[in-house]
Order: sequence, then C-alpha cells, then structure tokens
Amino acid sequence: MNEFYAGIKMLDFPEFNNGGFVEVEGLRDVPFEIKRIFYIFGEGNVGTVRGKHSNRKSEFVLFNVKGRSKVKTIDENGEEAIYELNKPNQAIYLPRMVWKEMYDFSRDSVLMVLTNEYYDSDEYIRNFDNFVDEIKNLTKNSTSSGTE
Ligand code: TYD
Repeated sequence: MNEFYAGIKMLDFPEFNNGGFVEVEGLRDVPFEIKRIFYIFGEGNVGTVRGKHSNRKSEFVLFNVKGRSKVKTIDENGEEAIYELNKPNQAIYLPRMVWKEMYDFSRDSVLMVLTNEYYDSDEYIRNFDNFVDEIKNLTKNSTSSGTE
C-alpha cells in the first residue's frame, strides 16, 4: 500500500455536554490547518456519485453531520475500499493523492468536508488514468512493504 493510502483513517470525536456537541480543531483533531469548509446536501444528491477525483494538494476530513453516505477509495492497482459515514461524531481522513467517490447519500444527508487548501481546480486530477500515472510516478522510489 502506498504512503498516501496508508494514511486513510476513521476519526472518532468525543461528544461533549452529555452528547450532541462535537468540536473540531485544526492541527489538533484533524492533521492540518483548516482553510475551507464545504458541504454537500439536498435530495439532488440521492443516487448520484460525487467526487471521482484525486487532489494533488488537498487533504480532506469528511463528516456526515446528518444522515449517511459512503466513500469509496480506489488505488492505482484498482483496489477498492468502502467506508460508511453515518454518525455526526465520526469522520474519515483522506490524504492527498487518494482517488475518492462519494455515493449512497441518504435523503437527509449533510456531508461536511474540511480541507487544508482554498479551492483550486488545477490541483484536481479528474481522469483516473492520469491519476494512476501521477501516483505511480510519486511512489516509484519508495520501498513497498505490501504483499504484492
Ligand atoms: P466538484 O469538485 O466536482 O464536486 P464533488 O467533488 O462534490 O463532486 O465540484 C463541483 C463544482 O463546484 C465545480 O464547478 C467546482 C465547484 N466547487 C467550488 O467552487 N468550490 C469548492 O470548494 C468545491 C469543492 C467545488
């Protein structure tokens, strides 16, 4: 597994005030300084697949603060992993250079995303074959500890 995918992790946040309260601090609870927040909500997302891209610079933390959705990651070998987000105090951390797809949005889903970068469409890789070329190039000199 390459260094980027090895960094993917679920984050569990404590609920304060007897529940119903979650705090997120940049560089403490998430591994970056938060520069941008966006959220994806509304019935228009039901049945759609969002994402389908990788980012050269942006790292993300995704929370379903309401409802649920799934995040699928695909690596350069086509290996898929699926994570369900369905709790307001749980998130997934995605390092840069991870191919991601968000789908299976519930009707009430509110997917909140935190990131370390301002929006810049040039740092998005939207073609899977290009993503494979770039990540192979970035990781070709690192030693593999996987079982390939
Ligand atoms: P896109 O990245 O394709 O969304 P998703 O990953 O959720 O499928 O972006 C959709 C549109 O919104 C595109 O025109 C770019 C714009 N956009 C912004 O202006 N700012 C942002 O922070 C994001 C994520 C997208």
